[in-house]
Amino acid sequence: MGTLEHILDLRRQLNEHNRKYYVDNAPDISDFEFDRLMRELQDLEAAHPEYADPNSPTMRVGSDITAEFRSVRHRFPMLSLGNTYSLDELHEFIGRVEKEVGQTEFVCELKFDGTAISLTYEHGKLLRAVTRGDGTQGDDVTANVRTIRSVPLELSGSDYPDLFEIRGEILMPYASFDRLNAEREANGEALFANPRNAAAGTLKQQSSAVVARRGLDCTLYQLAGDKLPYQSHWENLQKAREWGFRISDKMRICRSVGQIDEYISYWDEARKQLPFPTDGVVVKVNRYDDRRALGSTAKAPRWAVAYKFKAEQALTELLSVDFQVGRTGAVTPVANLAPVQLAGTTVKRATLHNAEQIAALDIRIGDWVYVEKGGEIIPKITGVELSKRPAGSRPFEYISECPVCGTPLVRYEGEAKHYCPNQNRCEPQILGRIVHFIRRKAMDIDGLGEETVELLYRNGLIRNAADLYDLRPDQLACLPRLGEKSADNIIESIRRSKEVPFARLLFALGIRFVGETTAKYLASHFGSMDAVMGASREELVEAEEVGPKVADGIVEYFADEANRTMVERLRQAGLKFAAETAVLRSDALAGKSFVISGKFSGHSRDELKELIEQHGGRNLAAVSGNVDYIVAGENMGPAKLRKAEKLGIPLLSEEEFIAMLKDDETEAAAAGREEGSSFQTEAGDSAAPAPSKTKKEKEDPTQGSLFQV
Ligand code: IVH
Repeated sequence: MGTLEHILDLRRQLNEHNRKYYVDNAPDISDFEFDRLMRELQDLEAAHPEYADPNSPTMRVGSDITAEFRSVRHRFPMLSLGNTYSLDELHEFIGRVEKEVGQTEFVCELKFDGTAISLTYEHGKLLRAVTRGDGTQGDDVTANVRTIRSVPLELSGSDYPDLFEIRGEILMPYASFDRLNAEREANGEALFANPRNAAAGTLKQQSSAVVARRGLDCTLYQLAGDKLPYQSHWENLQKAREWGFRISDKMRICRSVGQIDEYISYWDEARKQLPFPTDGVVVKVNRYDDRRALGSTAKAPRWAVAYKFKAEQALTELLSVDFQVGRTGAVTPVANLAPVQLAGTTVKRATLHNAEQIAALDIRIGDWVYVEKGGEIIPKITGVELSKRPAGSRPFEYISECPVCGTPLVRYEGEAKHYCPNQNRCEPQILGRIVHFIRRKAMDIDGLGEETVELLYRNGLIRNAADLYDLRPDQLACLPRLGEKSADNIIESIRRSKEVPFARLLFALGIRFVGETTAKYLASHFGSMDAVMGASREELVEAEEVGPKVADGIVEYFADEANRTMVERLRQAGLKFAAETAVLRSDALAGKSFVISGKFSGHSRDELKELIEQHGGRNLAAVSGNVDYIVAGENMGPAKLRKAEKLGIPLLSEEEFIAMLKDDETEAAAAGREEGSSFQTEAGDSAAPAPSKTKKEKEDPTQGSLFQV
């Protein structure tokens, strides 16, 4: 056998085994043997790069190359589904269908709770994978989807159409979800609220190697193409299973309302045992000629509907209540529950929000309470089963002192939560502030995580963020779990953080109410730490996005001696205490405010925003009287459009907008050289407002190449 034949043979074998393992759940070789074949193929491909193929099974591990997601138009729009929580409405839907096409077959399927995907296959090979996007165009995420083991890279058999699309759902099974969140928690990263968000977030990961590790799955439920083998949904999907796709084995043909109802009531219960999330049942007309007769609206087909299950609830006993103190001193009551199964995971804790909520629901220790999972990570308590209330129970008494340091708690006006005011000595506040300081969106000290911060704190090495910059490798290397290598990494990432722009340092300080965006506005308005520190309350509220609450937070922060000392030490350590002003490419847009809306073919939205800033304009988020122009791409939101129309704000196409920029790249490059620097704005700060505020120009904005709505 020649080398190429050998490579092709190994790929065929590995694809076949992969399918048996991941799609059919019936492997017929050992993992050891599979790994041996894989290594053999890897070696051959490494020795013969001329035979590389993106669809080779060796590509399943992904790569670290950052992907730009190209926007791709769907050949057939990806519609959404009408949905209902009511069986009556579902019956009306069936009545309407039968009135139109006569008695017919329906296919009932589970509604998978993930993120939609469209896969295109050409000559039996995966050509492209595109997200739903806005239904008309989505993002090309092929490199990421290739790493999902249940997506066939090459099809089995030979009776598939030359070119077709198959659509379905990318899912994150509960097991992968739990593992991912546990890992993120250990690294001090934000948790995903539910498997759906985790699946969608993972699919948009820049590195496909990360995607490969996250354990996504893919189930397909719809075929589209010109030459499909059958004229019914059911038959085509059974065929697609033979080609190697994972098609749900839970779908059923139903010929009456009774059968549909039965399917629904069975799965409303049985879905709780499934290893992946579902949120309803989709009822579809089976035959394509019926579907054609029924047609679609602009948004959804008239031949299908989703019946959604009510959010799952569980009833369990409230054992006790803990109080957690966050970095701002805010106290959050957390319920400890008798463990109970809910939507695929075991729930032991639930949030109680604050004292008022506990009082409003009259929740007492020993009560049986209803828990529900909303969009949040931690389930919430939604009510009490009074019939199960134990005799002699007493109303819950909220704490009046900090559960950690004993300081009397305070309430701030207009805030539902209690706060511990002992900022400088209350341990969770001290640790919380340091952990906030190192976060990715703040100083991005990636060598450190929550656990390491705690380790350093417990060993007396740090008491605040400034102490990080005095750490020496030898102090770290002798700590448990840290070797020389990770000690060096930590020191290196602390050193790198000195280059983080001023706006992010301001955010990292953890001043009450100063979030990421406010920090950007403050940095660009005041330009330096000294100016922010020296500003009075009145001067602070003059800055955009700064209200009295934020201003008070800032004044209070710098009034504290300990904070001032720490900030001074950060200055000594060489952190960026001033904003690097962006070098303008031109002042073509000076004094003009823009809103970007819709999708664009030539630039990403961020690129357009950056161009606006580089040319002296300002980006605004919402359509209001302050907006001079809207740069409108495809599928601009109808509400925005109406508002723009009402306010008489001109819309610009992408091309018209570009034509407004005076310079071209050559002019800009020359300008940059003269200034002795490039045109960069602060890294990662593209949403910051432009620093210059020139007077509004007087010319008529509706003139020239613009058109009025
Ligand atoms: S069919 C034109 N079948 O639900 C109809 N969709 O709410 C195309 N979904 O965007 C969809 N399970 O992401 C269909 N068995 C299933 C589904 C399903 C989940 C999702 C899909 C769609 C959304 C609409």
